[in-house]
Amino acid sequence: MITISKVVRKESVASLLVDGRPYVILGGELHNSSSSNLAYLDRALDRVRALACNTVLAPITWELVEPEEGRFDFTLVDGLLAAARARDLRVVPLWFGMYKNAESTYAPAWVKTDATRFPRARLASGEPARAVSVLCEEGRRCDARAFAAVMRRIKAMDAAFRTVILVQVENEVGLLGSPRDRSPMAEAAFAAAVPAPLLTYLQVHQGGVRPELRDAWIGCGRRVAGNWAEVFGPLADEVFMAWHFGRYVGAVAEAGRAEYDLPCFANAWLVQYAGQPAGEYPSGGPVSRMLDVWRLAAPAIDLLAPDIYLPEFDAICADYAVGGNALLIPEARREEAMAANAFCALGRHGALGFSPFGIESVGLRDAPPIDGAVALGSLGMTSSALAGERLAAAYRTLGGLAPLIAECRAAGRIAGVFQEGAGPDLLELGGCRLRIHYHRPPQSDLPPAAGILLSPRDGEFIGAGYGFAVDFLPAAGEAGRIDFLELWEGEFRGVEWIPGRRLNGDEYRFRFDEVPGIRRARIYRIGS
Ligand code: DGJ
Repeated sequence: MITISKVVRKESVASLLVDGRPYVILGGELHNSSSSNLAYLDRALDRVRALACNTVLAPITWELVEPEEGRFDFTLVDGLLAAARARDLRVVPLWFGMYKNAESTYAPAWVKTDATRFPRARLASGEPARAVSVLCEEGRRCDARAFAAVMRRIKAMDAAFRTVILVQVENEVGLLGSPRDRSPMAEAAFAAAVPAPLLTYLQVHQGGVRPELRDAWIGCGRRVAGNWAEVFGPLADEVFMAWHFGRYVGAVAEAGRAEYDLPCFANAWLVQYAGQPAGEYPSGGPVSRMLDVWRLAAPAIDLLAPDIYLPEFDAICADYAVGGNALLIPEARREEAMAANAFCALGRHGALGFSPFGIESVGLRDAPPIDGAVALGSLGMTSSALAGERLAAAYRTLGGLAPLIAECRAAGRIAGVFQEGAGPDLLELGGCRLRIHYHRPPQSDLPPAAGILLSPRDGEFIGAGYGFAVDFLPAAGEAGRIDFLELWEGEFRGVEWIPGRRLNGDEYRFRFDEVPGIRRARIYRIGS
């Protein structure tokens, strides 16, 4: 029997199972408004397909689904599913409900205009925020009801096809402009006792808790009771907001899953620089220091995901791929290094998927960005046609390799290449040391060299990537030389290996040129 998708964990390795098999999201997220018009959406999805994505991340918005309270219109939901299916794309809907980038701009007019029923959060200055207070139970009830209706519809229209594989609940939540909501409800909750499950968690998991949270708790004397300020001191505002946003998003997810039990995640607007005060970035969102709080507050959320627009791509992946959190990058900067970042996330950090933002603004050689390029240029996110070609080639190679990537990840037989210096770098894989040589210096005009290396069984290596070459050496402490028994270029179609040239003579090198491609080798040890 074919089941709907789910996130599973075996020891520390997480996988997204789609149709019962591990799946890798080679994604692209549409601009915010692209799924609000089906004619426009068609053009955007053509570009997604041309970039060799297997999955599109696309908004479904509360204001358009429930324009009048209790009257639902699913035209755009149905249209999105049909248009994606026609292009053989899977879909990750983004539920833009009460919160989108820490504001309530996607709430329907009947919510926006009723501040009595849906009171706003209050900033430290006393001004109302553009966001409804996260402590407003009526807001949560209505948002959850709408999300549940959407999930019911998706089940009715899609259970037989399973186009939808994962769902994002809300978008980059938190409070902007103030570290803590100062509305009367929030003030009362802030003065009340910290919930017992959070205190118990801190006592039980001390060693595994994120350092900022643990240090705040220890700094206040490891209290086992008290109000937020007493238990968390200077971090209290953010922990308080994280608990309430986690509970809110968790409750919305739970209502949706009761209708159709698809895996769900929440995404984070990250801290932009060390020491940045909460409120300058959304206070209470799932930034890495708040992951423990979120996981406890929102058990219906399978994973917490970073939106990576900062240059420290590798370090941010590492920060989110620990402590039982499965890594997914639902939004990444659209830039020259997109393909490198895809290899980095999947090869080095076991990500379930990668997805640049504003994917339809990625140009290809004969196809300029379809729209949005001007607006996004102003955000400093541009990419050349070469970057688009490189991403498409990377996705094509990774698409074929996906089943093997999942298999090798589970067996710990995977390594990632990501150029940070001049090299050579040394990696260990499949009982060998691999010396990685880069074709060009770092900080050249070109993006960093990157790739993924797999050793499905001893003596066999498969690699994909660009801009580097690999020497095979015996493991540390072992003598001797390693050589090829056979070396191929080629590709995977499904699970079938389609060999290209057999490489020997002048091409006798495990080498990846500028266009991402696949190499496969069997090696042996030269006897003495
Ligand atoms: C992050 C948000 O999550 C997206 O919806 C979009 O607004 C981008 N920022 C734009 O840069």
